[in-house]
Amino acid sequence: MAEYAIQVNGTRHTVEVDGDTPLLWVLRDELGLTGTKFGCGGGFCRACTVHVDGRASFSCQLRISAVAGRSITTIEGLASDGRHPVQEAWIAEDVPQCGYCQPGQVMSAAALLAENPSPSDEQVEGWMSSNLCRCGTYNRIRAAIARAAKSSGENHA
Ligand code: FES
Ligand code: FES
Repeated sequence: MAEYAIQVNGTRHTVEVDGDTPLLWVLRDELGLTGTKFGCGGGFCRACTVHVDGRASFSCQLRISAVAGRSITTIEGLASDGRHPVQEAWIAEDVPQCGYCQPGQVMSAAALLAENPSPSDEQVEGWMSSNLCRCGTYNRIRAAIARAAKSSGENHA
């Protein structure tokens, strides 16, 4: 066990855990941030996606010792009021079915649009292809990303 300091959603936390504890379990079990989901635990489904220094990352594959001192954003911190353009678009398109994969989907989509505000269909397809959804909400996810990109573009016009 050792102490690690991480910045999560703008707040600094110190946790005492084994250095190889995955960030996912630090978020869920130590900090109570259960919006980030455990899917496969092996880097295959992206249900556990968070942002590390702004980049979409699989929290099940990141050891706490590797992210100490870095800035982490989870679904709870994407927007203080829950009204990030991607979240608004997700609501407008009524994307979720069971909802389990959706925090990871939203975090991946938000990272995509932060990097590329007007992605092509192929770029969206390529970026999101690793985010699995057992309920098959892919068409609505694509529509919501298009809607979020359009609304962000209009806001910056
Ligand atoms: S739970 Fe992390 S990729 Fe599946
Ligand atoms: S909404 Fe059920 S797994 Fe994606």
